Amino acid sequence: MSEYRITLESGESFMAKQGELLLDAALRQGVTINHSCRNGTCRTCLFEIKEGSVTQEGEEICMISQQERENGRRLLCMSTANSDAVLGKLQRRKRASEGSAVE
Ligand code: FES
Repeated sequence: MSEYRITLESGESFMAKQGELLLDAALRQGVTINHSCRNGTCRTCLFEIKEGSVTQEGEEICMISQQERENGRRLLCMSTANSDAVLGKLQRRKRASEGSAVE
C-alpha cells in the first residue's frame, strides 16, 4: 500500500496511506487540523492544494463549489492523496461584524 507525505505550509508534515482520509491521517499523527463536522459540511478543514494530487470524495454532500474544486481547494475530512502533496490553509474572510480575523 502506498503512503504519501503531506506537508502543510506551516512546515508540519504527516504521512497518509492510500485511501486514508487526510484529516484522519493528520490527527492520527498528532498534527492539528481545525475541524468540526467531519462530513464535508462545515468547511472548517478547507485547504488549497499547492502541489500534488488530492481527490475529494462525496461531491454530492460536500459544501464546496465546482469553481473551488477547479481552483484546487479540498475539504480534508473528505479527501485522500494520490501523491505527495503540499497544502495551504485558507484564511477565513472577516465579516464586517467581526473585529478580527479568525484563523
Ligand atoms: S470538518 Fe467539516 S468540512 Fe471538514
